[in-house]
Amino acid sequence: MRILPVSSGKGGVGKTTFALNFALALAKTHQTVLLDLDTGTSSLRNFLDVKVSRDLFHFLKKDLPLQECREVLPARMDPDRAFANFSFIASPHGFIHDMVNFSPEVKEKLITGINGLQADFLVIDMKAGLDHNVLDFLPLSNSGIILFTPRLKAATYTAAELAKAILFRMLDIMLRSPLLQGRFDRGAEDPQAPVFQRLRDFLESGGEGSNKNLDDLIGEAAAQFPQDNFLRVFRYYVENYKVYYVLNQFNSVAESVENSIKPFVEEIFRSASSRVTFHNLGWVVEDEQVRRSSESGVPYLVRRHYQKKKAVVPAQDMEAQLRELFGLGHKKPEPEPKKDLSRELSGQLDLLRKIYVFNAGKDPETNLDFIAARVRDLSDNSAHQFGMKKIFSVQEFLERFQSKLQ
Ligand SMILES: Nc1ncnc2c1ncn2[C@@H]1O[C@H](COP(=O)(O)OP(=O)(O)OP(=O)(O)O)[C@@H](O)[C@H]1O
Ligand SMILES: [Mg+2]
Repeated sequence: MRILPVSSGKGGVGKTTFALNFALALAKTHQTVLLDLDTGTSSLRNFLDVKVSRDLFHFLKKDLPLQECREVLPARMDPDRAFANFSFIASPHGFIHDMVNFSPEVKEKLITGINGLQADFLVIDMKAGLDHNVLDFLPLSNSGIILFTPRLKAATYTAAELAKAILFRMLDIMLRSPLLQGRFDRGAEDPQAPVFQRLRDFLESGGEGSNKNLDDLIGEAAAQFPQDNFLRVFRYYVENYKVYYVLNQFNSVAESVENSIKPFVEEIFRSASSRVTFHNLGWVVEDEQVRRSSESGVPYLVRRHYQKKKAVVPAQDMEAQLRELFGLGHKKPEPEPKKDLSRELSGQLDLLRKIYVFNAGKDPETNLDFIAARVRDLSDNSAHQFGMKKIFSVQEFLERFQSKLQ
């Protein structure tokens, strides 16, 4: 199973709308579960006119297996069973304190439940915000799917903050590795202790108040201690950090680049690292039918299917073309030399144009099919760690990291 959390930093950018329709697009070919972790608002329930008899409450408080808390679309909504592969787990009604704020026990139980789910894809509608209730459910080595929109320029900055927070959390865990702790404990006896302390301080402050970024700090440290294995692996993780994003309420390539992609990439380059790789998974256009279906309780894609009443385009065709388009499935490219902002931006612009020419720009359904095809392709591609196979505990992550140090 691939776990695909959809997060945004800021609220109101269309997470629930996207997560719901994206899960339905994936369900055209794969078993897909949508999990509402935006507890407290029960927003998914408001978007789906479906009677829910089991939800997260039954899993957390009544010990029902998570798999059995799934609901499917009722026959009146999906008479053809076109979305039979789709199921969802709603968050509880009302305000139950430890479920809304994820007490440590709730969090642990949820993670165990999620890791035990049986499906091909699990899409998670996350809460907005950058706290541990969000971060602990996100991947450690990539960004999951970050959604933002050229319509809300202010949300771009928080989206960049989120991508940065995920990267910094992973690096912070490494710096707290017991292997390194021994070196900290030796204090002044270890000549490298101040170097690691600087990195720790930098991560703790989120890079605020510093005119340097991670590349500067790691570069300076590596120049001082060129043989250090820890620094080598630390740098490797930064260089392999991938940000996957989707633009919602897309209007035009030019607007998206100016209002979203440019400030997004710029902020991450400036305050984190220019070695991060960006992957635009596609976009969803602004569309009145999408807006209306949120209010009507019938998801856009379901409504659309019954409006057209015609066979779904086989996803394989699109996937083969995608491989061609993105050069996937070929040999993993050599790591690129340090990038600069203008090169990264022109690369992203180029990609947007290609997606546009590829016809992914027309209507929300084509957009969603495109994103789903791209996600299936990335998930099958071993060079990408896209979508976690499970939510790793800090301990499990550290074990993997330490094995790389050997
Ligand atoms: N592509 C789109 N075209 C038109 N309207 C959209 C689109 N995407 C989302 N919307 C509308 O934007 C509003 C906000 O969407 P949604 O509730 O999905 O955002 P959210 O990020 O989940 O918000 P919250 O943070 O409150 O959970 C809704 O009214 C929805 O119908
Ligand atoms: Mg929402």
